[in-house]
Amino acid sequence: MKVIEGIRPIKEGIRINDNNQYAEAEGFVHRVRDMGKFSFIVLRTSRNLIQCVVDSEKCEIAKTGVGNGINEGDCVRITGIKVIEPRAEGGFEIHANKIEKLSQAYAQPPVNITKHKIDSSLDVLLENRPVTLRHPKERAIFKIQEGIVRAFREFLHEHDFTEIHTPKTTSAGAEGGANIFKLDYFGQSACLAQSPQLYKQTMVGVFGRVFEVGPVFRAEKHNTTRHLNEYISLDVEMGFINGMEDLMNLEVLMLRHIIQSLKENYSKELDMLKAELPDIGNVPVYKFKEAKELLAKEYNRKIGGNGDLDPEEEVLLCRYAKEKHDSEFIFITHFPSSRRPFYAMDDADDPGFALSFDLLFRGLEITTGGQRIHDYNAQVEKMQRMGLDPSEFKHYLLIHKHGMPPHGGFGLGLERLEMQLLGFNNIRYASLFPRDVKRIAP
Ligand code: 4AD
Ligand code: MG
Repeated sequence: MKVIEGIRPIKEGIRINDNNQYAEAEGFVHRVRDMGKFSFIVLRTSRNLIQCVVDSEKCEIAKTGVGNGINEGDCVRITGIKVIEPRAEGGFEIHANKIEKLSQAYAQPPVNITKHKIDSSLDVLLENRPVTLRHPKERAIFKIQEGIVRAFREFLHEHDFTEIHTPKTTSAGAEGGANIFKLDYFGQSACLAQSPQLYKQTMVGVFGRVFEVGPVFRAEKHNTTRHLNEYISLDVEMGFINGMEDLMNLEVLMLRHIIQSLKENYSKELDMLKAELPDIGNVPVYKFKEAKELLAKEYNRKIGGNGDLDPEEEVLLCRYAKEKHDSEFIFITHFPSSRRPFYAMDDADDPGFALSFDLLFRGLEITTGGQRIHDYNAQVEKMQRMGLDPSEFKHYLLIHKHGMPPHGGFGLGLERLEMQLLGFNNIRYASLFPRDVKRIAP
């Protein structure tokens, strides 16, 4: 038996030898153009399109007929000479000496993935997701998604946060409300996690500062352009805070790091998608009450409503922030306590309002966060006041009973952030395999 020593190094689907003369690239045949004696093969590697020139007299497989033998969708490994070619993507092309055909494609793609842009409806795009994701622009969206998550992790690790993984099958919903997926768990009633909220707080009692990247489930019954039934939540929870301003500062610094890191590492994809990244300076902060007054005064909105901001108000507040403060972000704080979950801490100076905040970006809520109740008696008392039975939260309340620091955190919707960064009018574009009321496959 051979001992495995390691895997062969490769970068973005290509190996280049030490003196920068030879290249070996592996990927999918993206396009073939037969020019008679020559052929051009555009190879789609893991991140790039590489132009390969195949001279049928010099290339090994070419003798069997490149035009016939190698077709779009086939997987190949191409070795050859690396030649500078400013007009090619990446500034070089490969003059092939050898093409190994590794596998064969049996069908034409249902939509053309070699065009500049896929020009079919969202429905067709999603229905054929396993193939449409191969389009360079489609996959760029998810390369950027990788970049967001990577920078999120990087930033939090640097600031002493520990990454955790909490269960997605739970005995009760963490956020309340009607959007809970019920589940039969071996005869016991259970549900899919609406958020890692109670577990991430629990882990503050262990590590002090924690974060999680994971799926959460919301049985949203309405098909809107900004709701998914399963999305990725970037969750943060921090102990020993002096107030929720610590959390808001943390989030601003974190977002700055994410934007900076995208600029440094994902410019190729950002250019491809013509993304306009925001500058994040000082983010204006308005209390919920002030925001409502401002909406009434500036935009003639009726005050009242349901103690929350509606989508149109989110748009108007962002417009105001842009015009008045030159910021594409705005924090709204101190939401009515009745509209926030049982774990939210109320403002001691104004008990009808919770120490919680939303962050709006380009007209959409991307984050909700806030300070939590850490005192045992205060938490039991609030549960009772809200008509909840503390005995149903006996495991959660163990953390309060055995000592918790002042703490809080936030949840950032990954697809929402990306949708706003890239200017999509529908969140489904920012999800690999979106789940909505009508779609659970592919
Ligand atoms: O506002 P939400 O429901 O707050 C929480 O889950 C709290 N546990 C957060 C906290 O730490 N206090 O969700 C947080 C964020 C929203 O701001 C939004 O970006 C996203 O998650 N989100 C959704 N994204 C896509 N589809 C949905 N159905 C979403 N629901 C919330
Ligand atoms: Mg919210």
